[in-house]
Amino acid sequence: MLYEEIARLKKLRNAVILAHNYQLPEVQDVADFVGDSLELALKAQEVDADVIVMAGVKFMAEMVAALNPDKVVIHPNSYAGCPLADFLNGGVLSGYRSKFPGEPLVVYVNSPIEAKASADYVATSSSAVKLVSRLGADRVLFGPDRNLAEFVAEKTGVEVIPVPPNGHCPVHEFLISRYYAEKALEEHPGAELVVHPEAPREVRRMASFVGSTSQMLEYVQRTRASKVLLGTEEGLAYRARKLAPGKEILPLNARAVCADMKKITPRHLLESLERLEPKVTLDPRIASRAREVIERSLELVRRG
Ligand code: 13P
Ligand code: SF4
Repeated sequence: MLYEEIARLKKLRNAVILAHNYQLPEVQDVADFVGDSLELALKAQEVDADVIVMAGVKFMAEMVAALNPDKVVIHPNSYAGCPLADFLNGGVLSGYRSKFPGEPLVVYVNSPIEAKASADYVATSSSAVKLVSRLGADRVLFGPDRNLAEFVAEKTGVEVIPVPPNGHCPVHEFLISRYYAEKALEEHPGAELVVHPEAPREVRRMASFVGSTSQMLEYVQRTRASKVLLGTEEGLAYRARKLAPGKEILPLNARAVCADMKKITPRHLLESLERLEPKVTLDPRIASRAREVIERSLELVRRG
């Protein structure tokens, strides 16, 4: 009944539902498209709909709204934020700009729209390595995730200054830690470990593959291993099991739950389609500046 009503309203509103890979299974099942942050941004630019419902956290809804100024963008639960993105709240970046005036400033997609608007480039977990290597700079500023900053430095050989020095995702930093990785590998000997770059270095070093949520999904499908541990938010396992049904796929830590990602339920989808609220409204000047930065970054990554 609930699902039928969502389908009816979607048609009535000419709406699409985009969902991140960590969303609840019942939200993923009702979405038109499920993906990582980069895929969601690209999809948002190409959908032919009047209304986009972004089932994800706030920075994702803001980015979709910035890229689609002529569409109605709904974030079904505006309380779904991202504690990592919050590290760049309140104009933190301006101090770094004055301290390092000549260095390119790259912000991770997990950041407030104002931070994107004041940056030179925006990177996602799947594009960061390519983007930084294409800048041709010896040194870049990168924030807010210090683990991703370090991963980019390892992969590109570029000096990466983390902005701020301690930015982290609490789910990956504390629940995808070395302790849980060792525990899981002990419980599942022979399992292959695949992790997200927001995880700490010790865990990335134990893994056979490091990538964005969708890159992890691709890897899980192509690896020969029959048992895989996913070093990221537990929600990815649902999609991985669907895409690689013959394999045993387990979250590295079943308690690694991003509470914000789980704040959207089918009921929120239904109500937001009924009321066309909560709408994402951005300051038009900030949105337009952020759009320029995002589009320039997508272009750089797409090239070649
Ligand atoms: P992805 O872009 O890899 O999907 O990551 C988003 C995120 O929030 C990871 O915690
Ligand atoms: Fe933010 Fe971490 Fe949740 Fe991703 S998993 S949305 S980085 S808090």
